[in-house]
Amino acid sequence: MECRNLVGGEWVHARCGGTSGVCDPATGIEFARVPCGGTNDALSALNAAHGALDLWRSQSVQVRSALLVRVADSLRQRSHELAQIITSENGKPIEEALGEVHYSADFFTSAAHEALRLASETIASNQPLRIRQALPEPVGVVAAMTPWNFPLAMLARKCAPALAAGCTLVAKPSDLTPLSALALGETLVQCGLPHGVVNIITGTPGVIAETWLRDGRVRALSFTGSTAVGRRLIELSAQQLVRLSLELGGHAPLIVLEDAEIESAVEGAVAGKFRATGQTCISPNRFFVADRVYDEFVERFARASSELPVGRGVTPGVRIGPLISDAAVHKVRLHVDDARARGGRILTGGSTVPVSGCLDRFFAPTVIADATCEMLCCREETFGPVAPIVRVHDEMEAVTQANASPFGLAGYVFSADPMRIERMARQLNCGIVGVNTTVVSDASAPFGGRGWSGYGREGGRWGVEEFISWKYTCTATPS
Ligand code: SIN
Repeated sequence: MECRNLVGGEWVHARCGGTSGVCDPATGIEFARVPCGGTNDALSALNAAHGALDLWRSQSVQVRSALLVRVADSLRQRSHELAQIITSENGKPIEEALGEVHYSADFFTSAAHEALRLASETIASNQPLRIRQALPEPVGVVAAMTPWNFPLAMLARKCAPALAAGCTLVAKPSDLTPLSALALGETLVQCGLPHGVVNIITGTPGVIAETWLRDGRVRALSFTGSTAVGRRLIELSAQQLVRLSLELGGHAPLIVLEDAEIESAVEGAVAGKFRATGQTCISPNRFFVADRVYDEFVERFARASSELPVGRGVTPGVRIGPLISDAAVHKVRLHVDDARARGGRILTGGSTVPVSGCLDRFFAPTVIADATCEMLCCREETFGPVAPIVRVHDEMEAVTQANASPFGLAGYVFSADPMRIERMARQLNCGIVGVNTTVVSDASAPFGGRGWSGYGREGGRWGVEEFISWKYTCTATPS
């Protein structure tokens, strides 16, 4: 397992020699140390990325695409080893970690296809003897800052399209989960990526972000994380007019209408809510269920949730792992206590459960009936395994409540009526809608939000477009 920074094709320590620990969130035991970099490390990484830009942007799209295919293959070959790394630093169940590795590989496959589709366009001329073209050029050096909840996939989702577009990268993973990112760096090097094209450093986030955004050579930043940090990055990017792609917080509604197939609604609710122990931006966070099916849905959902095995991610069959930190447990507890105090009925869960040899970070899957929109859990993203269920009378009330949030990342509807589905999918004010499913993530589809959930899209051709700067040329031909 590589525990150093990747700068200019070399594995290096922080310039100041500092390190910081990586801990297993289940036990709190430190099992690795990585460099704790600062300004000088950020600048070295940026020098390397800037130095490699001309070489990488001038490679043919076929060469770039072939490299991305090799990376995808290599990630799939290393899937079990990489899944172990993800689980060790993030805590998620090993089967989910394995899924994350394949999801990551899919971003490279998708970007490899998109690279081959990058093409200049000739624009019909309204004047004689003129050739007008639009040329897709790389935006330049890209900075990628990634979170801990999908430590491999979120970097893959930024790195693959940036490389496809002909950009070079500087990247900083979350300090809680740096090893998955460094393992991706290792794969890129093994696959023959030229030195300096991707540089990954670990260290102090604020200092690194500020160094990159103030420099002028970083031309785009792709960030996944909280809305508060997103706002700070917008401020920092203003001076150099850095292009931003921000995937921020979510507060997804899940609506179950009276004509829904209840079994698939329960299945979807469980799959979406408890993915990564509820620590997923697109997890349903507020449930709106029609009066007529409320009792049945609530009872079946609570039963299915109570049966999910809780334990360490490394234990086969576990579905609910530890939360990432004590602060995360505190927030979940706060939301549950507030809901209880405001009359919510805790049908299952509601507290942490002990797991032998581990910290008190395992929060049982929690279903809260008789929830109301005044509860904290309905006003703020919980980022944990908590499902508050609000009773609604009709479709209109469901949509109104669902849209009564400044966040707009994902939303879900369960209904059997095709007209209704079409109507609701259009009315929900969010970037992603799942109809009769919560399994919506796909490396070839546009992922991103509206409002406080940020802007920009990742995945497929939309993800590559974020890193393209179109150049218009207009050539007068001699008469
Ligand atoms: C996220 O939580 O931001 C990522 C979820 C996904 O890509 O499915």
